[in-house]
Amino acid sequence: MVKHRLPRFPFDYINDKADEYNESRWMERNQKRATKLSIQYLFDEKLNGSEAHGIQTGVSSLVLDLGCGTGFSSEILVENVFTVIGVDILPDMLLKAREKKKNLKYKRYLMLILADINFLPIRANKIDNIISISAYNFIIHGKENYGEKVKLLNDTAKYLSKILKRDGRIIIEFYPKDDQELTIFNNSFTKNGFEGFMVKSNPKQKSGQTFLLLKKRM
Ligand SMILES: C[S@@+](CC[C@H](N)C(=O)[O-])C[C@H]1O[C@@H](n2cnc3c(N)ncnc32)[C@H](O)[C@@H]1O
Repeated sequence: MVKHRLPRFPFDYINDKADEYNESRWMERNQKRATKLSIQYLFDEKLNGSEAHGIQTGVSSLVLDLGCGTGFSSEILVENVFTVIGVDILPDMLLKAREKKKNLKYKRYLMLILADINFLPIRANKIDNIISISAYNFIIHGKENYGEKVKLLNDTAKYLSKILKRDGRIIIEFYPKDDQELTIFNNSFTKNGFEGFMVKSNPKQKSGQTFLLLKKRM
Protein backbone atom coordinates (compact mmCIF):
# COMPACT_ATOMS: atom_id res chain seq x y z
CA MET A 1 0.00 0.00 0.00
CA VAL A 2 1.30 3.51 -0.85
CA LYS A 3 1.87 5.68 2.24
CA HIS A 4 0.78 9.31 1.80
CA ARG A 5 2.61 11.93 3.91
CA LEU A 6 0.93 15.10 5.11
CA PRO A 7 1.36 17.90 2.54
CA ARG A 8 3.53 20.97 3.12
CA PHE A 9 2.02 24.39 2.50
CA PRO A 10 2.55 26.13 0.12
CA PHE A 11 5.18 23.95 -1.65
CA ASP A 12 2.83 21.07 -2.40
CA TYR A 13 0.30 23.37 -4.07
CA ILE A 14 2.34 25.53 -6.44
CA ASN A 15 3.70 25.15 -10.00
CA ASP A 16 3.78 21.52 -11.15
CA LYS A 17 2.71 20.36 -7.68
CA ALA A 18 -0.65 22.03 -8.33
CA ASP A 19 -0.96 19.90 -11.53
CA GLU A 20 0.03 16.78 -9.63
CA TYR A 21 -2.53 17.53 -6.93
CA ASN A 22 -5.27 18.12 -9.46
CA GLU A 23 -4.51 14.98 -11.45
CA SER A 24 -4.28 12.64 -8.45
CA ARG A 25 -7.29 10.30 -8.48
CA TRP A 26 -6.45 9.34 -4.89
CA MET A 27 -6.64 12.99 -3.83
CA GLU A 28 -9.89 13.54 -5.72
CA ARG A 29 -11.47 10.49 -4.09
CA ASN A 30 -10.37 11.59 -0.61
CA GLN A 31 -11.45 15.21 -0.96
CA LYS A 32 -14.82 14.22 -2.36
CA ARG A 33 -15.38 11.55 0.29
CA ALA A 34 -14.56 14.01 3.11
CA THR A 35 -16.88 16.62 1.54
CA LYS A 36 -19.80 14.18 1.31
CA LEU A 37 -19.29 13.26 4.96
CA SER A 38 -19.13 16.95 5.89
CA ILE A 39 -22.46 17.59 4.17
CA GLN A 40 -23.98 14.83 6.33
CA TYR A 41 -22.36 16.40 9.41
CA LEU A 42 -23.86 19.76 8.47
CA PHE A 43 -27.28 18.21 9.07
CA ASP A 44 -26.22 16.30 12.18
CA GLU A 45 -29.08 16.31 14.66
CA LYS A 46 -26.73 16.44 17.63
CA LEU A 47 -25.99 20.04 16.62
CA ASN A 48 -29.65 20.96 17.13
CA GLY A 49 -30.35 22.73 20.41
CA SER A 50 -33.92 23.17 21.62
CA GLU A 51 -34.09 26.57 19.95
CA ALA A 52 -32.56 25.47 16.65
CA HIS A 53 -34.73 25.73 13.59
CA GLY A 54 -32.70 23.39 11.43
CA ILE A 55 -30.59 24.53 8.52
CA GLN A 56 -31.67 25.87 5.23
CA THR A 57 -31.18 23.66 2.18
CA GLY A 58 -31.55 24.19 -1.53
CA VAL A 59 -29.94 26.59 -3.95
CA SER A 60 -30.64 29.61 -1.78
CA SER A 61 -28.33 28.20 0.91
CA LEU A 62 -24.98 29.93 0.55
CA VAL A 63 -21.95 27.87 1.56
CA LEU A 64 -18.38 29.06 1.87
CA ASP A 65 -15.74 26.48 0.88
CA LEU A 66 -12.61 27.63 2.73
CA GLY A 67 -9.38 26.58 0.98
CA CYS A 68 -11.22 25.26 -2.08
CA GLY A 69 -8.00 24.25 -3.86
CA THR A 70 -8.67 22.93 -7.36
CA GLY A 71 -12.36 22.55 -6.60
CA PHE A 72 -13.00 18.90 -5.70
CA SER A 73 -15.03 19.90 -2.62
CA SER A 74 -16.82 22.79 -4.35
CA GLU A 75 -17.91 20.43 -7.13
CA ILE A 76 -19.59 18.11 -4.60
CA LEU A 77 -21.22 21.05 -2.85
CA VAL A 78 -22.80 22.48 -6.02
CA GLU A 79 -23.97 18.98 -7.01
CA ASN A 80 -25.74 18.93 -3.65
CA VAL A 81 -27.65 22.10 -4.58
CA PHE A 82 -25.74 24.58 -2.50
CA THR A 83 -24.70 27.93 -3.88
CA VAL A 84 -20.96 28.02 -3.23
CA ILE A 85 -18.24 30.60 -2.77
CA GLY A 86 -14.87 28.84 -3.03
CA VAL A 87 -11.95 30.73 -1.50
CA ASP A 88 -8.26 29.99 -1.96
CA ILE A 89 -5.06 31.90 -1.39
CA LEU A 90 -2.99 30.30 -4.15
CA PRO A 91 -3.55 31.36 -7.77
CA ASP A 92 -2.08 28.08 -9.11
CA MET A 93 -4.81 26.09 -7.34
CA LEU A 94 -7.64 28.51 -8.03
CA LEU A 95 -6.83 28.64 -11.76
CA LYS A 96 -7.45 24.90 -11.99
CA ALA A 97 -10.73 25.25 -10.14
CA ARG A 98 -11.72 27.96 -12.63
CA GLU A 99 -10.85 25.67 -15.58
CA LYS A 100 -12.93 22.83 -14.12
CA LYS A 101 -15.84 25.12 -13.35
CA LYS A 102 -16.37 25.66 -17.11
CA ASN A 103 -17.49 22.02 -17.46
CA LEU A 104 -19.71 21.85 -14.38
CA LYS A 105 -23.41 21.40 -14.97
CA TYR A 106 -24.27 23.78 -12.12
CA LYS A 107 -21.47 26.29 -12.77
CA ARG A 108 -23.70 29.29 -12.22
CA TYR A 109 -23.95 28.30 -8.56
CA LEU A 110 -20.18 28.46 -8.02
CA MET A 111 -18.14 31.61 -7.44
CA LEU A 112 -14.38 31.38 -6.97
CA ILE A 113 -12.35 34.05 -5.21
CA LEU A 114 -8.67 34.54 -4.50
CA ALA A 115 -8.47 35.42 -0.81
CA ASP A 116 -6.97 34.53 2.53
CA ILE A 117 -9.22 32.67 4.99
CA ASN A 118 -7.86 35.00 7.68
CA PHE A 119 -8.95 38.15 5.80
CA LEU A 120 -12.16 37.28 3.99
CA PRO A 121 -13.74 39.98 1.82
CA ILE A 122 -17.27 39.06 2.93
CA ARG A 123 -19.83 41.19 4.73
CA ALA A 124 -21.50 40.37 8.04
CA ASN A 125 -24.47 38.03 8.17
CA LYS A 126 -24.24 36.82 4.55
CA ILE A 127 -23.29 33.13 4.76
CA ASP A 128 -25.57 30.20 5.68
CA ASN A 129 -22.88 27.58 6.31
CA ILE A 130 -19.16 27.01 5.99
CA ILE A 131 -17.19 23.93 4.98
CA SER A 132 -13.43 23.49 4.92
CA ILE A 133 -11.76 20.29 3.75
CA SER A 134 -8.05 19.63 4.42
CA ALA A 135 -7.17 23.33 4.44
CA TYR A 136 -7.89 24.95 7.81
CA ASN A 137 -4.72 23.59 9.46
CA PHE A 138 -2.69 25.74 7.05
CA ILE A 139 -4.08 29.07 8.22
CA ILE A 140 -1.45 29.36 10.96
CA HIS A 141 1.36 28.88 8.42
CA GLY A 142 4.20 31.32 9.12
CA LYS A 143 3.21 31.91 12.75
CA GLU A 144 6.01 30.49 14.84
CA ASN A 145 5.04 31.22 18.41
CA TYR A 146 2.10 29.96 20.39
CA GLY A 147 0.66 33.42 21.20
CA GLU A 148 0.63 34.48 17.54
CA LYS A 149 -1.13 31.28 16.49
CA VAL A 150 -3.79 31.63 19.19
CA LYS A 151 -4.43 35.27 18.28
CA LEU A 152 -4.81 34.53 14.58
CA LEU A 153 -7.12 31.56 15.23
CA ASN A 154 -9.28 33.63 17.58
CA ASP A 155 -9.51 36.56 15.15
CA THR A 156 -10.47 34.25 12.29
CA ALA A 157 -13.10 32.36 14.33
CA LYS A 158 -14.62 35.71 15.41
CA TYR A 159 -14.82 36.86 11.81
CA LEU A 160 -16.39 33.56 10.68
CA SER A 161 -19.04 34.03 13.36
CA LYS A 162 -19.66 37.57 12.11
CA ILE A 163 -20.21 36.59 8.45
CA LEU A 164 -22.43 33.60 9.34
CA LYS A 165 -26.17 34.06 9.65
CA ARG A 166 -28.06 33.03 12.76
CA ASP A 167 -28.03 29.21 13.14
CA GLY A 168 -25.05 29.06 10.77
CA ARG A 169 -22.88 25.96 10.95
CA ILE A 170 -19.28 25.17 10.20
CA ILE A 171 -17.81 21.77 9.37
CA ILE A 172 -14.03 21.65 9.35
CA GLU A 173 -12.09 18.58 8.30
CA PHE A 174 -8.43 19.03 9.14
CA TYR A 175 -5.23 17.38 10.31
CA PRO A 176 -3.89 18.97 13.51
CA LYS A 177 -0.25 18.06 13.94
CA ASP A 178 -0.45 17.29 17.68
CA ASP A 179 -2.56 17.58 20.81
CA GLN A 180 -1.66 21.22 21.43
CA GLU A 181 -2.66 22.21 17.92
CA LEU A 182 -5.96 20.33 18.22
CA THR A 183 -6.68 22.20 21.46
CA ILE A 184 -5.95 25.70 20.13
CA PHE A 185 -8.07 25.14 17.01
CA ASN A 186 -10.94 23.80 19.15
CA ASN A 187 -10.70 26.61 21.70
CA SER A 188 -10.67 29.28 19.03
CA PHE A 189 -14.24 28.29 18.18
CA THR A 190 -15.65 27.50 21.61
CA LYS A 191 -14.29 30.82 22.98
CA ASN A 192 -15.59 32.86 20.07
CA GLY A 193 -19.27 32.17 19.68
CA PHE A 194 -19.54 28.52 18.62
CA GLU A 195 -20.66 25.29 20.22
CA GLY A 196 -20.31 21.76 18.89
CA PHE A 197 -18.18 18.67 19.02
CA MET A 198 -15.41 16.77 17.33
CA VAL A 199 -15.37 13.49 15.38
CA LYS A 200 -12.09 11.65 14.79
CA SER A 201 -11.51 8.73 12.43
CA ASN A 202 -9.19 7.26 15.04
CA PRO A 203 -9.98 8.70 18.50
CA LYS A 204 -6.64 7.47 19.92
CA GLN A 205 -4.69 9.48 17.35
CA LYS A 206 -4.53 13.21 18.24
CA SER A 207 -3.00 14.22 14.94
CA GLY A 208 -5.18 12.23 12.53
CA GLN A 209 -8.17 13.24 10.42
CA THR A 210 -10.48 15.40 12.55
CA PHE A 211 -13.93 16.86 11.89
CA LEU A 212 -15.14 19.84 13.94
CA LEU A 213 -18.94 20.15 13.88
CA LEU A 214 -19.83 23.66 15.00
CA LYS A 215 -22.89 25.83 15.31
CA LYS A 216 -23.08 29.54 15.99
CA ARG A 217 -24.32 30.08 19.53
CA MET A 218 -27.57 32.01 19.92
C1 LIG B 1 -5.67 20.18 0.29
S1 LIG B 1 -5.80 21.65 -0.58
C2 LIG B 1 -7.41 21.85 -1.18
C3 LIG B 1 -8.51 21.04 -0.68
C4 LIG B 1 -9.84 21.31 -1.36
N1 LIG B 1 -10.84 20.88 -0.41
C5 LIG B 1 -10.02 20.60 -2.69
O1 LIG B 1 -11.11 20.04 -2.88
O2 LIG B 1 -9.15 20.62 -3.55
C6 LIG B 1 -5.68 22.91 0.64
C7 LIG B 1 -5.86 24.31 0.09
O3 LIG B 1 -5.89 25.23 1.18
C8 LIG B 1 -5.42 26.47 0.67
N2 LIG B 1 -5.07 27.40 1.75
C9 LIG B 1 -4.09 27.24 2.68
N3 LIG B 1 -4.05 28.33 3.49
C10 LIG B 1 -5.01 29.17 3.06
C11 LIG B 1 -5.47 30.46 3.49
N4 LIG B 1 -4.91 31.08 4.52
N5 LIG B 1 -6.48 31.04 2.82
C12 LIG B 1 -7.06 30.41 1.75
N6 LIG B 1 -6.68 29.20 1.30
C13 LIG B 1 -5.67 28.58 1.94
C14 LIG B 1 -4.23 26.05 -0.19
O4 LIG B 1 -3.87 27.05 -1.10
C15 LIG B 1 -4.74 24.76 -0.84
O5 LIG B 1 -5.26 24.99 -2.11
